[in-house]
Amino acid sequence: MSTIAIHAGEDRLRYADSITTPIVQTSTYAFKDTKELEAYTKGGKERYEYGRYGNPTEKVAEHRLAALEGAEDCVVFSSGMSAIVTTILSLVRSGDHLVITDDAYKKTLEFCSGYIQRFGVGCSIVPFGDYDALQAAIQPNTRFIFSESPTNPYLNIFDLARLHEIARRHKVLTVIDSTFATPANQRPLEWGVDLVMHSCTKYLGGHNDILAGAVLGRKELVEDIRDLHKAFGGVIDPHCCYLLLRGLKTFALRVRKQNESAMEVARFLEAHPRVRRVYYPGLESHRHHQIAKEQMSGFGGVVTFDVKGSLPVVKRFLDSLKLCYIAPSLGGVETLITHPGIVSYYNYSRQQRYALGITDSLVRLAVGVEDAEDIIADLYQALKRSARAEKR
Ligand SMILES: Cc1ncc(COP(=O)(O)O)c(C=O)c1O
Repeated sequence: MSTIAIHAGEDRLRYADSITTPIVQTSTYAFKDTKELEAYTKGGKERYEYGRYGNPTEKVAEHRLAALEGAEDCVVFSSGMSAIVTTILSLVRSGDHLVITDDAYKKTLEFCSGYIQRFGVGCSIVPFGDYDALQAAIQPNTRFIFSESPTNPYLNIFDLARLHEIARRHKVLTVIDSTFATPANQRPLEWGVDLVMHSCTKYLGGHNDILAGAVLGRKELVEDIRDLHKAFGGVIDPHCCYLLLRGLKTFALRVRKQNESAMEVARFLEAHPRVRRVYYPGLESHRHHQIAKEQMSGFGGVVTFDVKGSLPVVKRFLDSLKLCYIAPSLGGVETLITHPGIVSYYNYSRQQRYALGITDSLVRLAVGVEDAEDIIADLYQALKRSARAEKR
């Protein structure tokens, strides 16, 4: 994985013998003469024409991500959401129907249950993990099933072999957002999934400094998405592509460390008297631990947990942290912590939030690459302070 993440997708000899991938910062490409122009437009010559249709730095990123995921083809985008929306719109026609699981990323759910319906596309939302409901939701016009694994914030794991079996029987496509897993921990294409999505903003970029997205899968599916992408124009900037490639060089190292540290943090939290419950697929107590063990090679860097106490106690815990930043997102080198109730579900009533399992005491920790003992020490001192808040 490390060797692929460092070397895949580019020629050994590069511009000016550079070891690093050159940033081709251009919006257009020059043709030597009209003969070359005609050779290109008549389709005989492979080269670059205009920035929205392709860029050499972008091409390296696409090849490298495809190699990591074991995919035939890949398209990178300016964000994860750009990748998801373009992929969904490329797969459906008016009159089609899709099925999505209920704990998908909130913006993806909103797009599928709201915006896309304007174009005459139906959507059924099914409870995650209810495979009977999933089958029952499939209609003759269903084009694909969309889900995530692991999911946010409870880190539920989709049984990908079961998904593949259901989809094959009903002749529908499958799309998995594998952002939380990364190709280092899970390779959905090997389980028969048709398309894999990533928000490269997270682990693949890995430094909390870029927005990027990707879709990966069979050439014939990805080629259609690429065509629509060229029309929508949500292309990634070449400099951003360079940062993605730079981040990828340490991807395997970072994820290995994050897997190990998250496991240590999860065990520490599970044993702590101020913590009601911990959700981490690597723990035996997680409802999908068995599936996770079978289909993942690592359990990821996100740990979700319930702090004992009311909202003011939980706020006191968060405000007492000195190392972990209060911030959304995940997958970067810095440890981030977020309160889904305050951040993602701020516009829901308490009742609506609780129905979705987003309680006042729920927090999500995205473990970075700091030393695990320092992260644990920070959590320990903040939990101690939160206990004092309750006594007052
Ligand atoms: C699972 C998942 N998919 C997709 C996205 C969207 O990615 P981006 O923020 O890069 O658009 C996110 C963002 O948090 C996410 O968590």
